[in-house]
Formats: sequence, structure tokens, C-alpha cells
Amino acid sequence: MSEILTLSGLSCHYDKIIALSDVSLSIQSGEIVSLIGANGAGKTTLLRTISGLNSASSGSIHFEGTDITSLSPDKRVISGIAQVPEGRGLFSILSVEDNILLGAYTRKDAQIHTDLEDVYRRFPILKEKRNQYAGTLSGGQQQMVAVGRALMSCPKLLLLDEPSMGLAPIIVEDIFSAIMELRDQGVTVFIVEQNAFLALEHSDRTYVLENGSIVSEGNSKEMLHNESIIEAYLGR
Ligand SMILES: Nc1ncnc2c1ncn2[C@@H]1O[C@H](COP(=O)(O)OP(=O)(O)O)[C@@H](O)[C@H]1O
Ligand SMILES: [Mg+2]
Repeated sequence: MSEILTLSGLSCHYDKIIALSDVSLSIQSGEIVSLIGANGAGKTTLLRTISGLNSASSGSIHFEGTDITSLSPDKRVISGIAQVPEGRGLFSILSVEDNILLGAYTRKDAQIHTDLEDVYRRFPILKEKRNQYAGTLSGGQQQMVAVGRALMSCPKLLLLDEPSMGLAPIIVEDIFSAIMELRDQGVTVFIVEQNAFLALEHSDRTYVLENGSIVSEGNSKEMLHNESIIEAYLGR
């Protein structure tokens, strides 16, 4: 396995608020890695800094060995990083299909239609509803649209911010099955979750973020049995 993403000493500020402080982590190609932490820990800020929507105040981000710390967000998409944002970020009065196609905005190639069909194969309900306004779909179906849109840029690394938020448990399982299937097809996945149990159950390795700093890291299945993780994050 080779390293696909490396963060070294990454910090990020909002004015005087320090949201991330000296964060270092690495993700190997083909892994599912999760990041857990309480509300306000800095999880979204970390994902947005990787995708270039927030800028780092110090430290570096390497993707496939190349320094992308000051690359624009669209160039990061072209190089293979796609993000499914917290709250999904759909345009509710655009159709399902138009929302999905927005994910191909960096592309001009002839493969776009084939990749759209691939999204529909993965999520058949979206094909049925392709002409409906995205805002009329259920929460789970909207999350499928958000994942489908991200896949339209053919990412090597998929960043997911709280994919389970607001969804019923049975729907969450569908979304996570789709994520596991993506990994089997060669996509590396970095999932941010407030639901620590879900994250640990579905990932290979997990990092724990507290107040903008990584405080722990390990094999996800082992962390499920770690006393301090159980006490702080699993509530049992
Ligand atoms: N746009 C912003 N402006 C100012 N502070 C922000 C902004 N976004 C987030 N923060 C602050 O940064 C910290 C981390 O937030 P965030 O990354 O959203 O955490 P999480 O996703 O773990 O809930 C919090 O203290 C939050 O209030
Ligand atoms: Mg968040």
C-alpha cells in the first residue's frame, strides 16, 4: 500500500479561533479511515482544509506525494479528491440528475454519461427519481445524490462529512454498504462521523480529534474495545 494523503503539522484558524492545531495523519491507498470527535472538535474544518475550501495557516497537505497545500479546490478535484459535505449541500430546486451532473463540472470527456449510468446502477432509486427536484427526496436518497455527485469526478479519495446525520439506522446501513463497495472498487475513503460506533464499525483505522488536535489513533476494531474510547465516545 502507498500513502495517498499525508497531513503534516496542519493548523487552521478562523480569525482568532484555533480550529485545528498541529494535525498530522496519513491515509494509505485503499483504506477506509474515520475521524471521530465531539461537536465543534474541528472535523468539518479538517475535511474542508483537505479539499481546499479552508486554507491552512501552517503545515502541509500531500496527495499522492505532491504538495497540494496551496492548490485551488477545483484543481484538487481534478487531481482526485472529492468531498460529500456536511448537510449534503444539494440544490433543492434542481433535478436529481442535474445535481449529480454538477459533480462532473471539472470534466469535458465523453465518459460522463457512462459514469452517470454507473451512479444509477449503484443507486437505482435515483434513476427512477432523476427528473424530480432533489428537495423532494428523503434524507437517505439525498445522501445518495450527494455521494453520486462526488463520484462524478472519479475520485481516488472520497471525503465524507457525517454521512449518517439525520438518517434512520436502516438507511445509514445502506449508505455505509455503498461506501464499503466503493472501497472494494479502489476508492480510498476518509469518513468524519460524530457517531463513533458507526465510524469504528465501518473503518480500518480511526483518528480521534479533540479541540482541534489528534489525541488518539488506532485500529478501529481494537478501539471498539478500548476503555477510554468507550467511556468518551461510545457511551456504554
Ligand atoms: N466559519 C466559521 N467561522 C468561525 N468559527 C468557525 C467556523 N466554522 C467553524 N468554526 C469553529 O471552529 C471549531 C471547529 O468547528 P467544526 O470544524 O465545524 O467542528 P465539527 O465539524 O467537529 O463539529 C468550532 O469551535 C467552531 O465554532
Ligand atoms: Mg462538522
